[in-house]
Amino acid sequence: MHAYVGAQIAAEHGLSQEIVDIIRKHTGAGLDQEDVRELGLPPGDYMPRTLEEKIVAHADNMVSDNRVVVHQFSVDKLRAKGADRGAVRIEMLHQELSQLYGRDLDTILGLIGEYPKLKGVRV
Ligand SMILES: [Fe+2]
Repeated sequence: MHAYVGAQIAAEHGLSQEIVDIIRKHTGAGLDQEDVRELGLPPGDYMPRTLEEKIVAHADNMVSDNRVVVHQFSVDKLRAKGADRGAVRIEMLHQELSQLYGRDLDTILGLIGEYPKLKGVRV
């Protein structure tokens, strides 16, 4: 529910519809309508469709708590929960955005280095 509730809060604070949509659609690589039903979420579109929506969703997939992680970390996390469709979507989103970026996005871990509270980890 945090994506839905977060989007509601953003809307209440007058943020643009684009930002509200980014927040609502940022979970994993989006939620399909079957996920929406299974999770008991209010009806709506939870799939990232714009480039900005996809980038934020996938950036979130590559951070866990205060660590930058390879995308496989989030894929494995979803598989462990039995959310195989979601895991496949993360893999597909990773491929799509890596292709647009021109290199595997997992290489970002090696580029950004280490920040005070942001440590890259390999899984
Ligand atoms: Fe989130």
